[in-house]
Amino acid sequence: MFDEIRFNTIERLPNYVFAEVNAIKLAARRQGEDIIDFSMGNPDGRTPQHIIDKLAESAQKDKTHGYSASQGIYKLRLAICNWYKRKYNVTLDPETEAVVTLGSKEGFVHLVHAIINPGDVAVVPDPAYPIHTQAFIIAGGNVHKMGLDFNDEFELDENRFFEKLQKTFQDSIPRPKYVVVNFPHNPTTVTVNKSFYERLVAMAYKERFYIISDIAYADLTYDGYKTPSIFEVEGAKDVAVESYTLSKSYNMAGWRVGFVVGAPKLIAALKKIKSWFDYGMFTPIQVAATVALDGPQDCVEEIKDTYKKRRDVLVESFSNAGWKLKAPRSTMFVWAKIPPCAQHLGSMEFSKQLLTKAKVAVSPGIGFGEHGDKYVRIALIENENRIRQAARNIKKYLKQLEETS
Ligand SMILES: Cc1ncc(COP(=O)(O)O)c(C=O)c1O
Repeated sequence: MFDEIRFNTIERLPNYVFAEVNAIKLAARRQGEDIIDFSMGNPDGRTPQHIIDKLAESAQKDKTHGYSASQGIYKLRLAICNWYKRKYNVTLDPETEAVVTLGSKEGFVHLVHAIINPGDVAVVPDPAYPIHTQAFIIAGGNVHKMGLDFNDEFELDENRFFEKLQKTFQDSIPRPKYVVVNFPHNPTTVTVNKSFYERLVAMAYKERFYIISDIAYADLTYDGYKTPSIFEVEGAKDVAVESYTLSKSYNMAGWRVGFVVGAPKLIAALKKIKSWFDYGMFTPIQVAATVALDGPQDCVEEIKDTYKKRRDVLVESFSNAGWKLKAPRSTMFVWAKIPPCAQHLGSMEFSKQLLTKAKVAVSPGIGFGEHGDKYVRIALIENENRIRQAARNIKKYLKQLEETS
């Protein structure tokens, strides 16, 4: 019907690259096969009990069932600012520099929606968490993808990053207005030090762009690494916003709680657009989220420990199975280079073969951008026994592959 009526935004959005692997996974499960699933970044753990208790308690009150505040209740915005003070010694104003979002994905999409004029350009590293690119496409903007370079320890090659960024600003018409960064990075696990933000903020002032920083994995760090915040850099608050989520640190992915803080001009834009889109998340969820941020933090340590143990078991058992992997310093992923005997397959075919022949689901790197095609992403969402089982299956598969090639 009405073929002349076209949906430009929908047509500009790519099909979901992971759909193909997901379809094979679901079909195998329907056949009764046990698939060991490392494909999604969806935490498998339960939300800490004191947070669930607070939700239940608040939901029993008469006054918590109406529309809430779209920008977030004041108490939660205050807890966010206190979290920054404690963690990073950064002072933020809960009225003008913080907004609660329905998970950080919603916050990112609506922020971009609020600030992009048609044709505006943003620089986004490649590979990337897909919404970091697609939010600009949804909003009618354009993306300049910039390949991400890092060393064997998954540390960003800062010099290369800034050489490339400088060149982008020299060559691009129109000049980019936004640069997206996400460290610790999904999918590559790449991390940065404070010096990176010092250089980025200095460049933002010089080249006149805003920085959008996503620190979803800020707390999931190992081996002594500590995630810096861009706001530890003097002057960052005028040129940057940073987002965080309770999904990962507190196993609250389904609750949809995140926030964006920083540059008042961008925060005001996000608040305004959100006031047209939503009435805020359910108040008891906001009350419970306040308790998560303000309350005891040993639950975060426990969640982090679980991922660390799984990381160690996975790296060791997969390496023993013939797939040599390096342990990341952060996130809930292992960014795994495809083993030499399978590199010719590319990440999509390799992922399909892992599924059909080893009964192991991973995310093909190509789904995160063309610079990801030599890798697959393994999410640490299966327990240690299942990780060891996956390693046994992979060992057999790799042996077959070597014999036939
Ligand atoms: C880098 C990054 N940012 C944001 C999100 C989304 O988090 P939320 O659950 O808060 O929407 C994810 C989820 O995987 C992520 O990897």
